This record gives sequence, structure tokens and C-alpha cells, in this order.
Amino acid sequence: ELEGDERAFQERIDAGVRIEPQDWMPETYRKTLVRQISQHAHSEIVGMLPEGNWITRAPSLQRKATLLAKVQDEGGHGLYLYAAAETLGVSRDDLIEALHSGKAKYSSIFNYPTLTWADIGAIGWLVDGAAIINQIPLCRCSYGPYGRAMVRVCKEESFHQRQGFDIMAKLAAGTQAQKRMAQDALNRWWWPAVMMFGPPDGESVHGAQSAAWKIKLHGNDDLRQKFIDQTVPQADLIGLTIPDPALSLNAETGHHEIGPIDWDEFYRVVKGDGPCNRERLATRVEAWEKGAWVREAAMAHAMKQRNAA
Ligand code: ACO
Repeated sequence: ELEGDERAFQERIDAGVRIEPQDWMPETYRKTLVRQISQHAHSEIVGMLPEGNWITRAPSLQRKATLLAKVQDEGGHGLYLYAAAETLGVSRDDLIEALHSGKAKYSSIFNYPTLTWADIGAIGWLVDGAAIINQIPLCRCSYGPYGRAMVRVCKEESFHQRQGFDIMAKLAAGTQAQKRMAQDALNRWWWPAVMMFGPPDGESVHGAQSAAWKIKLHGNDDLRQKFIDQTVPQADLIGLTIPDPALSLNAETGHHEIGPIDWDEFYRVVKGDGPCNRERLATRVEAWEKGAWVREAAMAHAMKQRNAA
């Protein structure tokens, strides 16, 4: 039974009232949001790396310009999200320090390598496709700054998903070698994308409390199912095969049923032991260190302005 402030808080949430930074909130609500929003911000920033890796090798000027814009969008998403986290009384420096020291999590998906150009198609199609399904409901989440940040993020993600699907569709309709490349990328990205939604609801540590607080409006499994049901027909449309021999459409429920998910692999990657975890963190830390002069120059400039005033 909730009492006092906590009860009044829950009643506001239940009535659909949005919580704003100046409102009273339970410390656990604040901490849950800092955790989720900062993990989300880190994911956007680390997520720039696997694709950034292909900007210089995009196969045409148009593909290059599109990929460049997409990767820049991801950087922007990270900045809106750090700003949303800051409204909860944490400092951006502390959040970034938690990422760089390996304490903070970011999405498992960005610890897989981008081996061919088709991987850029697979990421846009599958990873950004999954991100939209997870983020559309977050536009209505109970915390105002987070929900508002998600509106623009989702609009940009839908462009990202389209550009990825377009790459895959073109490769799948190309030469035999191009089609093989597209199929190989789908084979490698499918299961990690399915895992992105997080552990099954029964093992989700924060799921029930975050649902009560309307931070999460759907469970991990529901969103995962939505992604599968949306993506399977898209693969059919472009003539690619989902790498799951157990995949079948249940005519009664209308849902696609999949084979077992390798949760050991998921937990291994989340704990820091995926194919690229070390490389990703090292690249981030190096970029931060090499950018020190920009931060110093900005501070010096701000000081000068202040002294002049
Ligand atoms: N990668 C890494 N860690 C994960 C992942 C994942 N794909 N899924 C779950 N986890 C972690 C959780 O962070 C949590 O760890 P913690 O207690 O140390 O924070 C643990 O596994 C247990 O999971 P849940 O209890 O289910 O966690 P939660 O309720 O936070 O749900 C989810 C996880 C669905 C990812 C949620 O945090 C969320 O919706 N986040 C916002 C979206 C997001 O971060 N997207 C990033 C990828 S999309 C993109 O950047 C393009």
C-alpha cells in the first residue's frame, strides 16, 4: 500500500498527468529514469560507431550523404537524451564518466561488427526498425522531457529505417553476389535485433515497476513480437530468408512464432564480452580525449564573454 506523497504521485500517473522536472517524485522513480535515459543516450552515441565505420566506403555520393546525415542524427539523439537526463539533477560529465569506465550500459546491439556494406542496410532496417517500435510508446511515457525528446527522435528513426530497407531491397534485387551479401547481413543481425528488446518479461528486473510508473507502456516481449510480425513480411517482400528454421505463422493468433533465443549470448554481450565491446569503448574514450581541446576552447570563450559583460 502506498502512502502520502508516493500515493499522490501514483494517482497522478494513473490519471495520465505528466511529471515535470520541478514536480516531487520518488527517489526510485528519478533513479530509474536516470538509468534508462542515460543508457539510451549512451546507445545513441556508441551507435554512431558501427555505421561511422562505413561513411568513407559508401558505394555512391548519395548513399554517403544519406549515411552521414543518419549518423549525425544519432549524435543529436544522444544530446537530446543527455539533456533530458540532466533535468533529473545529474551531470553530463558524470554520465559520460560512467560510460567510459564501463559502469553504464548501452544497447547490446552496438557490440556487433559491420563487415560489409549490407550491414549498413541491415542496421537501418532491423536496428532502427526495432528502435522505433520501442520508442513510439516512449513518446507517451510519464516523464515530460523524455517523452517530448522521443517525438523528434522517432521521426528521424523512421527515415533511418527507410534508408536501411532501401539498401537491402536494392542489394536483394541485384546480382547473385549482392543478394548473398544482403542475406548474410540479415543472418548476422536478425537475432541480435530480436534480443535488443531486453530479457523476457519474467526476467525483466525493472519491467513491472516501470510499467506501474508508465515509464514503459509495453513489456519487452510484446514489443519484440510486434517487431517480428512487422519484419517477417518485409523480408518476404524482398526475397530474403529470416535465419530461423522454426519460424512459423500461427493462423489462430495471427502472430509469427520464433525458435529459441540464445539468452546466454545476450547476457555475455551485456556484461561486456561481445565481439566489439572493448573496441567500442576504447574508440569512445579516445574520441573524448582527442576532443578535450574543443571543450577547453569553449570554456575559454565562455569566460571571455563573461568577463567582457
Ligand atoms: N542491451 C543492453 N542492456 C540491456 C538490453 C539491451 N538490449 N535490454 C535490457 N538490458 C539491461 C537493462 O538495462 C537492465 O540492466 P540494469 O538493471 O543494469 O540497468 C537489465 O538488462 C534488465 O532488463 P530490464 O529490467 O528489462 O530493463 P528495462 O526495464 O530498462 O528495459 C529496455 C530495457 C527495453 C531497453 C528499456 O530500458 C528501454 O526501453 N530503453 C529505452 C530505449 C533504448 O535504450 N534504446 C537503445 C537502443 S535503440 C538506439 O539507440 C537506436
